[in-house]
Amino acid sequence: MAFEDLKIEVSRIADKIEDSATSKMTAICELLRERIEYYDWVGFYMANHEKRTLHLEAFAGEPTDHTVIPFGKGICGQVAESNANFVVPDVKAQDNYIACSITVKSEIVIPLFKDGKNIGQIDIDSSHVDPFTKDDEDFLEFVNVQVAALL
Ligand code: SME
Repeated sequence: MAFEDLKIEVSRIADKIEDSATSKMTAICELLRERIEYYDWVGFYMANHEKRTLHLEAFAGEPTDHTVIPFGKGICGQVAESNANFVVPDVKAQDNYIACSITVKSEIVIPLFKDGKNIGQIDIDSSHVDPFTKDDEDFLEFVNVQVAALL
């Protein structure tokens, strides 16, 4: 199973002692984007709770203008407030959505918890319609647990 193999590789990146947290997060983004065919953009946004903004910390894929997102805005901003996974099978059906590229058709955002607090999220964009399953959610929750341990 591809996700099981990838879990081992994510753990290996997380366990490297010499790299910074941000470079490990970037390496994880690159791994996921390279290895999962329908992951076209992968990034981590981290929350600033005082300012109520999300900040792009690491990513793989095309650079985005949306490096700072207010809580409540777009799919990412909604997850900052809901603390819940958000799977969007078809972005055209969403009113509160920030378009990063016209090629994006679907998106998944999974909150990242540290000591029970929602401190950020992993965000994946796909050029496929409705590609994400419960297996993606389970896998990305695993990834976020690994990343939380680095922070
Ligand atoms: N589409 C996101 C914005 C971030 S980009 O996908 C990189 C949203 O609606 O929050």
